[in-house]
Amino acid sequence: MVLTEVTNELQTMFDNARRVAVLTGAGISAESGVPTFRGGGDSSIWTWRGRPVTELSSAELIASNPTLVWEWFDYRRGMLLDLQPNAGHYALAQWERRFEEFTLITQNIDDLHRTAGSLNMLELHGNIWRARCLRCRSTFEARECPLEQNPPLCLACGNAARPDVVLFGEMLPEGIFERAEEASARADLFFVIGTSAVVYPAASLPIVAKQSGAKVIEINPEETDISFLVDVTVLGKAGEILPQFIKERG
Ligand code: APR
Repeated sequence: MVLTEVTNELQTMFDNARRVAVLTGAGISAESGVPTFRGGGDSSIWTWRGRPVTELSSAELIASNPTLVWEWFDYRRGMLLDLQPNAGHYALAQWERRFEEFTLITQNIDDLHRTAGSLNMLELHGNIWRARCLRCRSTFEARECPLEQNPPLCLACGNAARPDVVLFGEMLPEGIFERAEEASARADLFFVIGTSAVVYPAASLPIVAKQSGAKVIEINPEETDISFLVDVTVLGKAGEILPQFIKERG
């Protein structure tokens, strides 16, 4: 079913849900000014100094030239510095208190969900404002932008650190995906918001939820690779659609 707004039927599905899981992608931050990778928005900025993002955000480059990788991430951090969460982020932070169980699973590294007040969150791809030591693997906040020191040094052992972000060619952090899978399998209502659903394993989570009996609702201005599987696609922007679910109805 394809809709363009939240109908009473959809609202009833929402009101009757007890265990909810949500998967978000770059699209939920588009209205905050964060460019997406694919689908809509100005993806041309995903080459920098003539290099594609897939090379700049890669395991190979962190091994051969961590300084350049940090320069690239500091450029991205600079773009995010003044951006604020939008109505979509705030709606999800409110939802968290509404259900018996609520899990927010994000592919985004921009920290805007946390800034909006979301607590029970799984960051599948890491966080751009955190660093991880290349030796002792401890993580720490690295919020100064531009970086005072490149690479930043580990607060625990003094060794060089890297962005605590999953790079192309790397596995997701241990345990986080398993917890996301569990929350997806337990959900009776699963939302897929602002993702093109082409990057795995994140894109498998709606499938896990569907196979476990959940109703799956997609919110995206465009249909995606997962639209064939979902129960409902609401064609629209997250910042405009999500608040409709918690708006008082006559
Ligand atoms: N509201 C909802 N969805 C939107 C909006 C909006 N305002 N604007 C754009 N979209 C949709 C686009 O139509 C597209 O389907 O958001 C989706 C963004 O898709 P991608 O750019 O592919 O982002 P995402 O799915 O999060 O990418 C997954 O790929 O590059 C890697 O690690 C990176 O986490 C990222 C992963």
